[in-house]
Formats: sequence, C-alpha cells, structure tokens
Amino acid sequence: APGSLWGGRFSDGPAPELAALSRSTHFDWELAPYDLAGSRAHARALAAAGYLDDDELVRMLAGLDAIDAGVRDGSIVALDSDEDVHFALERELVAAVGAELGGKLRAGRSRNDQIATLIRLYLLDHAERIVHLTVHLIDAIAAQASAHPDATMPGRTHLQHAQPILLAHHLLAHAWPLVRDLERLRDWRVRATASPYGAGALAGGSLGLDPDAVAADLGLGAPMPNSIDATASRDVVAEFAYVTAQLGIDLSRFAEDVILWATREFGFVRLADAYSTGSSIMPQKKNPDIAELARGKSGRLIGNLTGLLATFKGLPLAYNRDLQEDKEPVFDSVRTLEVLLPAFTGMIATLEFDEERMAELAPQGFSLATDVADWLVRRNVPFREAHEIAGKLVQFCERAGLELDQPTDADYAGIDPRLTGEVRSVLTVAGSIASRRGTGGTAPDRVAEQLAELTAAVRPL
Ligand code: ARG
Repeated sequence: APGSLWGGRFSDGPAPELAALSRSTHFDWELAPYDLAGSRAHARALAAAGYLDDDELVRMLAGLDAIDAGVRDGSIVALDSDEDVHFALERELVAAVGAELGGKLRAGRSRNDQIATLIRLYLLDHAERIVHLTVHLIDAIAAQASAHPDATMPGRTHLQHAQPILLAHHLLAHAWPLVRDLERLRDWRVRATASPYGAGALAGGSLGLDPDAVAADLGLGAPMPNSIDATASRDVVAEFAYVTAQLGIDLSRFAEDVILWATREFGFVRLADAYSTGSSIMPQKKNPDIAELARGKSGRLIGNLTGLLATFKGLPLAYNRDLQEDKEPVFDSVRTLEVLLPAFTGMIATLEFDEERMAELAPQGFSLATDVADWLVRRNVPFREAHEIAGKLVQFCERAGLELDQPTDADYAGIDPRLTGEVRSVLTVAGSIASRRGTGGTAPDRVAEQLAELTAAVRPL
C-alpha cells in the first residue's frame, strides 16, 4: 500500500471498512504537538548515536518545526487516508523533507512506545490545568468561609438536624476532599513521569539510542525498567481517570448541597443570575443547573473510569490495539472537568447566603440535646445516664411543644433531679458551637485555624 507505514508486506491497501474502523485521527490529533515533541527528541537521539549527520538533523528539526506551526494554525490536518496521528505526521514529514530523510526518523521507535509516551505527556499537561482550576475552586470556598465567620446552620446526619455548626465549617468540609484530589494528582505525577520511550514495539531498542536523553528532552524522568510493561500498561491512564472521577464525586456532593439549599424549603442560598438558569414556560423559575450538571457529569466521569478498567482487563502482553480505546474516555474526562470547574467556581463564589434563615433553623429539631448530655457529663453523670436524661427531656419538650430551655425548674427536676435550671446556660447555638473546641471542631477559633491550614496546604500544590 503506497504511503502506508507497512507497505512492503502487503500487496493491497486497507479495505474502506477497515480504514473507517481503524482510523483514530478524529480524536488522537489532540496528541499531535506531543508527537512532534517526541519526534524532535528522537531525532536528536538518532543524531547523537550517529544515524543522522548535523545537516540532516538541522533539516529534520526544521521540517518538524514547520509541521508544528502548520498543526497549530490549522493548515496541516489529518487526511481520511491517515490511520492515526503518527501516520499523518510521518506523511507530512516526508512531504516536508523528502522521502530519504523523512524515512529515517522511524528507526529505533515504534508507535507502541510513542503512544505510551504521548498519552503521559498529554495527561501531565492537563493535570496542571486541572490542578490550577481546582485551586481556584478551593480559593472560592475559602473566601466564602472567611466572609461568613459567625454564620451558624443546622449540621445534619441522615439529612436530619444533628448539631449546630458554623457555615464556614461546613463549607470547608467540601474543600478538604478537593485538597486530597490535588495531592492524588501530585502522587500520580511521580508514576506518570516514567518514560516508555525507547521500549520500541515491546522488546526494547537495538540501535543504542539513549532513552535517558529522550526522556529528559521531554521533561520526563527515568525510562521504564521493562519495555514490555512500558508499552502494554495503561494503569497510569486509569489512575488519572480515577482522580477525575473522584473530583467529579466531590463536586457532585457539594452540588447536592447547593441544590437543596436553593430550594424554597431550605432557603439558605440565592444563586447569582449569571450562574443560574430560567424556565422557558415558568416565568418565576431560577434553576441550579450548574450544580445539576456537576452531579450529572460525575456519572460520566465514573463511566469513563469503569470503561477504561473494562478495556484493560484481561489484555495479554504486550501492546494490543484495544489500547487505542484509552484515549476517548480520558480525553472526555479532561474536557468535562475543564469546562465544569470554572462554572462551578463561579457559582460558589457568587452564592448569597441567608444567614438569618440558617441561624433560625440551627437550634431546631432539638439539635442542642447533645449539649444537655455533655453538660450532665461535666457534672459527673455517666454518659449512658446523661443520654437517657437528655432523651427524656426531648420527649417531654416534644409533647409540651417547648424548646429544650423552656421547661420550668420543676419540670427539669421531675425528669431527673440532676437536671437543674443551670442547664439553660449551654442551650444556645453560640454556646454549643463555642464548646466544640476539639481538633477539627466547629468552635470559631478551630474553624479559623483550619482555614489557615487549608490555605497553607493548597499553596505548594
Ligand atoms: N493508534 C494507536 C493507539 O492509539 C497507536 C499505536 C498503534 N500501534 C500499532 N501497532 N498498531 O494505540
């Protein structure tokens, strides 16, 4: 097949149905800049080993630079007859520098070690972007937390009122998982920077090219110790996809809060006009679409991860064409987060909280009952009994339609003699919150501490 990468052994070109199935340029063109960077590094390695003379290297690099410029300005595109990005760029190189010189670049490398390297370069670049966008979101959460240092709200478990907390405390609880996602990306980077280049098709190179030099040229670390593993493994892609799925889940959980908070029943937040949508039929509607899309897209991110895992499972060593299926899902995960994160950050940064509404609900649902029990414990009542007494008080108040601080001293004594009117001193939201001074607790100075800790944790990521 004339112009193909494997003409010699074949007397016929690919059937159109095969070409249609096999073609990947509509998605792997995204890798063209990385392919060209790899080719420049490879050309230098060939020259260093004596396979290209100085003049040939100069002409080869000039040809690659011209192709790079053409790819960037859109004047060079893949043709229908190109199987993949590697194929297309070799065709362009031959056109640019002639068949004799252009035909030398492929020595000592395979599309198998090439693609394994390029996917890493692509992911490393986009990981940087995702880190950057996530840091912006963490900053927006931290800004909302510091703008509302005293706002209180009902803390929930099982979605039921549990104990009063600070709004800032709750907001920061959505920031820490994102910090861990950034740490995951940093850990992943250690493995992602290992270099498959030089592994060849699977068995390693025979031309004496320097894989360390190529790796250094590409900004990667040491070459991978096993050429079969280097070309056959894609766990680095799956691991990246896991972090993006986890990020999606973390955004989705926050989104669910925003969706609830924006309901009439909660009434905790107002969404900015610019970050909410209306209805085509109901004139009064203001919908939290960004949050819903975050929740929805987390499903897609999880799907991409599970698709990758299913593709990789059971593949024999070494390279198999199945591995081409790694790109579309992970490219989709990258694009999904790169459009979702800025919108989500805008939504969070512009949320308007109704502090009064939240404060009003904070003590409801007898959420100070634990404070009654803790007050008894501080007076030497065993917690088992203290819990029992506080529970009886809740039952009494529920029947009488009273709040916990409203029974008379006699009523208290009737429940248990150890329960006196002095208990009212802890039955305020502010008192309850201030008393939770344990590590990571909701007391204002503890929350201020964790805000500072969060800011310090994000800086080096
Ligand atoms: N397009 C291929 C991929 O994405 C590149 C490697 C092809 N190698 C091969 N022997 N067919 O995986």
